[in-house]
Amino acid sequence: MTVISVPQAFNEEELFVDLRSIFGNSLFLKCEGFNFAGSIKIKAATEMVEAADRDGVLTPHSILVESSSGNLGVALSMIAASKGYRFLCVTDSRCNLSTRLLMEALGSEVHVVSDPDAAGGFLGARLDYVRALCASDDRYVWLNQYTNQGNWRAHYRTTAPAIARQFPQLDVLFVGAGTTGTLMGCARYFKRWHRPVRIVAVDSFGSVIFGGSPGRRMIPGLGMTVRPPLLDESYVDEVVRVEEADSIRACHRLARRGFLFGGSTGTVVSGAMDWLSRHDASDLTAVAIAPDLGERYLDTVYQTNWIEAIYGKDVLSSDFDVPVQAVHQNAF
Ligand SMILES: Cc1ncc(COP(=O)(O)O)c(C=O)c1O
Repeated sequence: MTVISVPQAFNEEELFVDLRSIFGNSLFLKCEGFNFAGSIKIKAATEMVEAADRDGVLTPHSILVESSSGNLGVALSMIAASKGYRFLCVTDSRCNLSTRLLMEALGSEVHVVSDPDAAGGFLGARLDYVRALCASDDRYVWLNQYTNQGNWRAHYRTTAPAIARQFPQLDVLFVGAGTTGTLMGCARYFKRWHRPVRIVAVDSFGSVIFGGSPGRRMIPGLGMTVRPPLLDESYVDEVVRVEEADSIRACHRLARRGFLFGGSTGTVVSGAMDWLSRHDASDLTAVAIAPDLGERYLDTVYQTNWIEAIYGKDVLSSDFDVPVQAVHQNAF
């Protein structure tokens, strides 16, 4: 029996799905959606708020503010409610309706930025809004997931050791990249581990995290329109880039076997399967991280009209059983 008194005290760390029967190659998918915030972001949120509490940054009058495409916003809403702080989430029009309603149900205020910045992305516009708020009233406390060291430390302390405990012979780890908190925490941990682990970052086309030119991205969570300040590329062995249409196909392929995961899991699985199909993977122990589950994406990733409007009519009509395609590059 597990008994808790605050929601952030519970997180399922030991659940992995073996994808061999669905995709052909063995890949253990670490499921991070089984906690009260519904995503991996519970870890960064808990670490950042507790550090701010410890450092005396937060007072009873503080209002937490954060720019989030959704999952961190939900996690912070939950923790703020649990600790009695107010929270304002600054998001943009790509935030799923259900995610926004969830934050509001937890008592948070949500501000939706609807105009992109000069570069065509929303991140700059969201950050400008947060900066203006903080300048206007010193009760606002911005944890800033993009620069906060607690973001990667959370995964160094929890996610990576949880994988290491279950897979002492781990060879390759696939991690999706957004703020790169998950990637950097895991990469730093495994670079100091007892055996070499290949760290493969998975990013979407249209993201500029590892270079390239910005383009349209509709699946929240992965990718950035600027280079993430937390990223240290010396810890990353390889980068795989995935087209969003392939992310959608991977999500639907999993759903047809009863596993409803979020859009970024489709990206990570698609990229990982592409990598595994290009390497002699039969003896490799491979793990990938699934940041959340699919219910928040019912009106996007799992909705035919939305998919067809964005990716075209044929995106799901092709045979799911051919290997998913992704384009790779050796980054370094
Ligand atoms: C669904 C989802 N996938 C992936 C990520 C990327 O994680 P990170 O910011 O640690 O790079 C996030 C982060 O918000 C997310 O919400």
